[in-house]
Amino acid sequence: MLPDLRDDFPLLARSVRNGKSLAYLDSGATAQRPHAVLNAMDEFDRLHNGAVARGAHLLAEEATEAFEGARGSVARLVNAASPEEIVWTSNATAALNLVANGIGNASAGQGGAASSLFRVGPGDSIVVTQAEHHANLIPWQQLAARTGATLRWIEVDDLGRHRLEQLGSVIDETTKVVAFTHASNVTGVVSDVAAFVARAREVGALTVLDACQSVPHIPVDVQALGVDFAAFSGHKMLGPTGIGALWGRKSLLDVLPPSVFGGGAIMTVTLEETTWHPAPTRFEAGTQPVTQAVGMGAAAEYLMALGMEDVAEHERRIARIIREGVSEIPGVRLLGPVGDAHDVLGIATVAVDGVHTHDVGQVLDDLGVAVRVGHHCAQPLHKRFGVTGSTRASAHVYTTEEDAERFLAGLASVREFFGVPA
Ligand SMILES: Cc1ncc(COP(=O)(O)O)c(C=O)c1O
Repeated sequence: MLPDLRDDFPLLARSVRNGKSLAYLDSGATAQRPHAVLNAMDEFDRLHNGAVARGAHLLAEEATEAFEGARGSVARLVNAASPEEIVWTSNATAALNLVANGIGNASAGQGGAASSLFRVGPGDSIVVTQAEHHANLIPWQQLAARTGATLRWIEVDDLGRHRLEQLGSVIDETTKVVAFTHASNVTGVVSDVAAFVARAREVGALTVLDACQSVPHIPVDVQALGVDFAAFSGHKMLGPTGIGALWGRKSLLDVLPPSVFGGGAIMTVTLEETTWHPAPTRFEAGTQPVTQAVGMGAAAEYLMALGMEDVAEHERRIARIIREGVSEIPGVRLLGPVGDAHDVLGIATVAVDGVHTHDVGQVLDDLGVAVRVGHHCAQPLHKRFGVTGSTRASAHVYTTEEDAERFLAGLASVREFFGVPA
């Protein structure tokens, strides 16, 4: 069980509309940062800033140590086989694009025979799901368009769970990549990763996991999951913006062609051609967001010190209060499993009959309750649910039962506020 952690998060002490205390329920979009993260970045900037892996002086050495130490912390959080399996990116979106663009470059012949295992072309298929965030859909649409491959998808049922019976037919011998979310940012439903991986392995397809909503909230062991790549962002796991990570099997990362080119990533350069370092350096061209990496490393350490099992248990408890409370409010529909579902994270997303999602958000904001409104970058999933937008409450380690109750009380007042007939 987690202690009350609100004092660790300075922003949560501020007041919002008309002096109200803040009930922050928008952690699914971006999380708040604890002192431990803010202090680590501040100390780095004040005392250790220098050019990573470039200088011969003490500061360059200290900066390199901090940067690589942070990589080690993130590697431990997800149980990577080694820190070299963690590539810094600017966010999860960039991590997913790194894989898709690398496959695109391999398909165009870059990387030669060594990268031929990534080649995709006409007659091949790439499989996603109907539950994807646009960040794990559009890069694959683009790859299909670029290579002539076909994009296919696994549908979800009325509660947002993948229709696993489709795995056997949608994923077949033509499939080269299966890209799917670990946890939906709309319903909070956690995917059956083992089922996806088993089917992908049967046909020899690569698996790419969007772990953006799982790594910050539940124990994630990339080796045990058996996927080939996983992407996540610093800012959703109590770290700063501007930093994210791609985890990949070292043997794959070492032969995946890079798609951002420049200094730092190279082994040799002549005027005619370039050879690249092994991973992760081959993907980290140019000066990296070092302060942010230090912050993400500190966030990983903070989460590990809390214990991810306890983090998951805490957030599920909050979500249970919200999910059960929501089901008692007339005219409010929960998107996803109702009540205390075993496979759902600390996310509860609702559609309110007769009220636009932005209006719902504004009523809640006036009460000091911060939520996300709109389509949450998941338009296909909203279409599946027959709505254009929704209102999402999402928890993190600092979310309290009182935050959940304030959300429910605000939500219960919305339809009356707008004079929607009962
Ligand atoms: C499931 C999921 N995937 C990917 C992303 C993209 O993350 P970022 O904007 O940090 O790149 C998000 C962000 O909302 C998400 O929830």
